[in-house]
Amino acid sequence: MAKLIAANWKMNKTVDETVDFISGLKKSKIPKEMEIAVFPPFTSLHAASKLLEKSKISLGAQNMYFEEKGAFTGEISPLMLKELGCRYVLIGHSERRHIIAEKNKDIKKKFSLALKWELIPVLCVGETKKERKSGKTMEVIESQLKGIQASKGIVIAYEPVWAIGTGENATAKQASEMHSAIRRIISRNSIRIIYGGSVSPENSSNFLREKEIDGLLVGGASLDLKKFTYIINS
Ligand code: 13P
Repeated sequence: MAKLIAANWKMNKTVDETVDFISGLKKSKIPKEMEIAVFPPFTSLHAASKLLEKSKISLGAQNMYFEEKGAFTGEISPLMLKELGCRYVLIGHSERRHIIAEKNKDIKKKFSLALKWELIPVLCVGETKKERKSGKTMEVIESQLKGIQASKGIVIAYEPVWAIGTGENATAKQASEMHSAIRRIISRNSIRIIYGGSVSPENSSNFLREKEIDGLLVGGASLDLKKFTYIINS
């Protein structure tokens, strides 16, 4: 399985900035054994999709709604993402769980609907610092994974909340241990489990060396083309 290196831009980059970045990325050296995906904000998806039409770089969206259409002001349907050529969709990112108060039950509905529309869900799971300190990590991860259909091809992103945007990344060993625990819980070998949380050009190779780590979900460092291409080649 090719390792997946994904850029989650969160609420960053205008259309022009997206076009600049992707044009540069297309010219960069990408090792054959890597799959690259970019997750721009919704407003940039159309422009990104045009640029990526004949490219091997995949496109993903950062969120979707759990209904196909209807009176849901401000929401985005999986059909709309399909139409734009998205291959992936992030589901249950920790910023959505913790800042926007998305609930596990709605996240699971999103996950199922993404599969129905043949979008590959990248389900984000992870514990807070408090949960880790109180020994609740596995309980939290289990509840985030409970009931999801672990079909072939889906991606799980292990993103400990305490490591996101803090500069305090999990060690490769910690991430590896969590990845094998996640694999045990979902009892599937054929899915990719990627790590996210303060990934940088300085630490990326430590993660990519690990057998249990099938790729990286990069936030802050993915906004800078130089840093991101360094990570891809690390
Ligand atoms: P940072 O790489 O900025 O810590 O963000 C990680 C993340 O949330 C990716 O989805």
